[in-house]
Amino acid sequence: CRILVLISGSGTNLQALIDGLRVNPDEGQIVAVISNRPDALGLERARKANIPAVVVDHRAYADRETYDQVLIEQIDQFEPDLILLAGFMRILTEKFVSRYRGFLLNIHPSLLPKHKGLHTHQRVLDAKEDEHGSTVHFVTQELDGGPLIVQARISVLPDDTPASLATRVQQQEHLLYPLAMRWFIEGRLRLVNDQACLDGSAI
Ligand code: GRF
Repeated sequence: CRILVLISGSGTNLQALIDGLRVNPDEGQIVAVISNRPDALGLERARKANIPAVVVDHRAYADRETYDQVLIEQIDQFEPDLILLAGFMRILTEKFVSRYRGFLLNIHPSLLPKHKGLHTHQRVLDAKEDEHGSTVHFVTQELDGGPLIVQARISVLPDDTPASLATRVQQQEHLLYPLAMRWFIEGRLRLVNDQACLDGSAI
């Protein structure tokens, strides 16, 4: 399975994916990491693991359509079977999403469908919720709205801040994303008629 990871930032999830593949490298390999930001720390993580690290800087392109077209051309050169968004902070065009439908996954720091979009940790605190977490889902047209694959839950503690929540959510993410990736590599995870299926059963 040829895996391509898109990032914008620190790449701790990317690191968890890299480490997750060390166990059985024959089954899957990360063939490239692409960032829209030249300063993303995750690029360094990729290089350290001998993975091609590519920058496609969104600031060099006039509009979203042009950018996504260039991104598609870059991605397709690597012929990936699976594309993982790991902190890729860009809204994707319809053309992009439909091209990779069924093999494009995202991880989002909330218990979707709650708290789509940004600042999820602050919003959980503002709403005085007692639970928070992270979700891996198939990417469809609706932002953070595609079919859910797997979630991790944490309890919100009385002293929590956005930063402390982010830390505990990320610890869960580093287990969750490699798990979903492995399901896909093993052929157990599929998108069938807009429904995520694991081992043939709707999730
Ligand atoms: C993660 O919390 C992920 O859920 C969100 O962006 C963050 C990326 O963190 N989409 P990192 O770059 O993997 O450290």
